[in-house]
Amino acid sequence: MIQIGIIGAAGFTGKELLKILSYHPEAKVVCATSSVYAGQKISEVFPEFYGTKIQEMIFIDHPKESKDLKGLDIIFTATPDKVSMQFAYLADQANVKMIDIAGAFRLSAEDFEENYSIQHTAKDFLAEAVYGLPEKNRGKIKDANLVANPGCYPTAMILPFIAGESVLKNVQIQQVIAEGKSGTSGAGGRSEKDSLTFSTVNENFRAYKVKRHQHEVEMQSHLPVKAPVRFTPYLLPLFRGILLTSYVVAEHFPESVEKKLQEGMKEFADREPFIVYEPDPNKIEIRNVVRTNFAHLSFYFDKKHHLLIFFSVIDNLLKGAAGNAVQNFNLVYGLPETLALVPDV
Ligand SMILES: NC(=O)c1ccc[n+]([C@@H]2O[C@H](COP(=O)([O-])OP(=O)(O)OC[C@H]3O[C@@H](n4cnc5c(N)ncnc54)[C@H](OP(=O)(O)O)[C@@H]3O)[C@@H](O)[C@H]2O)c1
Repeated sequence: MIQIGIIGAAGFTGKELLKILSYHPEAKVVCATSSVYAGQKISEVFPEFYGTKIQEMIFIDHPKESKDLKGLDIIFTATPDKVSMQFAYLADQANVKMIDIAGAFRLSAEDFEENYSIQHTAKDFLAEAVYGLPEKNRGKIKDANLVANPGCYPTAMILPFIAGESVLKNVQIQQVIAEGKSGTSGAGGRSEKDSLTFSTVNENFRAYKVKRHQHEVEMQSHLPVKAPVRFTPYLLPLFRGILLTSYVVAEHFPESVEKKLQEGMKEFADREPFIVYEPDPNKIEIRNVVRTNFAHLSFYFDKKHHLLIFFSVIDNLLKGAAGNAVQNFNLVYGLPETLALVPDV
């Protein structure tokens, strides 16, 4: 059994990790940390864990020294962005692998500091960190000690471009305009800000962080084709799920773009365990992916306006965070990639 620590296990994404890993046949969660709930049983804090093999487990405080990670093989850091950097040092000293769900290792130090307004305090680890989007970096993830799990919006945005890469690499893209609509759990964590309360969000719909969202630069950095990206996020009156639309603007698309994209998307879905290609964009719906690790992708080529439009949906807490992190975990340990992420595997 692989010995696991979840740092920040009582947050939104940490709790999803606890859930998946509690029934993962090769994983043993031996430590789950929370300062708020330290000393309390997991099932008392989250009654949905009654009946699971971790129901009696007690939350402990966050590790402070490398010796606190003794006996672990790997940690998942589901912490605020400014916090996970310190755990890279502790994990390295304790010879423990790390999958970081926060944003600190997805970008260059410069881009991180500029877009997160946080000083990067673990630059030494940036060179070895692997951007953990399995559909893009499967080979590198298998050998990684430190995996930078992607952001939720970038995951939804980048996946259709990977499917269409062979066509789009020959297109001179002038601009990609991406719009992501997310449930509130994608916009903030467990402690709700006033702007995310039920009363504010219910029966409402609006943009947020219009001037700059930190995920724009991540999209730009990891997109498989060269293109300037403009991203605007919106807040849906839902708890979880993201629908993302990317408008791809170019002077010229090849004659066969539609057919080639259909083929590319189909092949992508055939070879990737968590990708579904839905030919009809009207059927790209959040409800079809919520509580799963799947991404559903589609596109529409508007010949009249010379515009390619990609559509994608994911569950931000799963394919956009904890589910994808477990997919990476499976890859790192040479396990079937879908283990604990689809029923009966
Ligand atoms: N929500 C999403 O859809 C999503 C998707 C992709 C990535 N992410 C990223 O994942 C990370 C966690 O997001 P979340 O939504 O799960 O946030 P959250 O609900 O606010 O949870 C944050 C967690 O971090 C822990 N924490 C706070 N300070 C800490 C410290 N000094 N040391 C260790 N742990 C500390 C908290 O522990 P306590 O119990 O002690 O408060 C809590 O468990 C963020 O970096 C976020 O950007 C989120």
